Amino acid sequence: MIIKRFKNYQDLSDFAASDIANSIKNKPSLVLCMASGDTPKLTVDLLVKKLKEEKIDYSKITFIGLDEWVSLPPANTGSCHYFFQNKLIGPLELKPAQYFLFDALADDLQNECKKMDEFIDEKDGIDLMLVGIGMNGHIGFNEPGVSFNNLSHVIALDETTRSVGKKYFSEPVELTKGITIGFKHLLNAGKVFLMANGSKKAEVIKKAVEGPVTDNFPASVMQKHKNGFVLVDDEAASLLSKPH
Ligand code: GLP
Repeated sequence: MIIKRFKNYQDLSDFAASDIANSIKNKPSLVLCMASGDTPKLTVDLLVKKLKEEKIDYSKITFIGLDEWVSLPPANTGSCHYFFQNKLIGPLELKPAQYFLFDALADDLQNECKKMDEFIDEKDGIDLMLVGIGMNGHIGFNEPGVSFNNLSHVIALDETTRSVGKKYFSEPVELTKGITIGFKHLLNAGKVFLMANGSKKAEVIKKAVEGPVTDNFPASVMQKHKNGFVLVDDEAASLLSKPH
């Protein structure tokens, strides 16, 4: 795992967007998996801009949505689906066969997990994964206590995730469960970027990077990845004891 530190959110997002764009240049059939949320917002906007302006051929990429709030319709502006559709799938005009997002309204959520796992297998795994970190150290909805061996799964959300998650919604919602890609896929991914910005993320970044590797703090899984990068701005890196 390598830590890369940037002056600010703009530089951090610029780096991630450029790296993803270059990865698509080098491998036009790239399988990209991404989190939604506040952290990757600028990266996604810059990525779409770069792909278009630099006329990079993105017609063969595959996109995978990392997670979703169970029971929320895709039209809800706080859903991950809404984020991916409006910021990436729509602007890039990806064809339905080119992406897979969890259907959080499916009657059979286990089958939804199976479909995701099969989709990832058919594509020969994820090449590049861009994830964020929650205030309890989660990645996607891999909540504290989750096994590092999990494939896609449905999980009860912990208290922190339920309350922090309210920030995405304009109306009150009840957040109880999540559906998410598991750490087996993350550990098998060719490259993983975990991104964090702002002082509110400083403590969780310190734990993820310098704390013990334990399923009680899911983001510590990054320390096990052979090609994992933690991208942080100065504020998120401010509590790290070792120089990075
Ligand atoms: C959310 C999502 C994660 C996301 C994380 C951080 O609950 N399930 O996929 O990466 O929390 O979100 P943010 O970037 O908004 O801080």
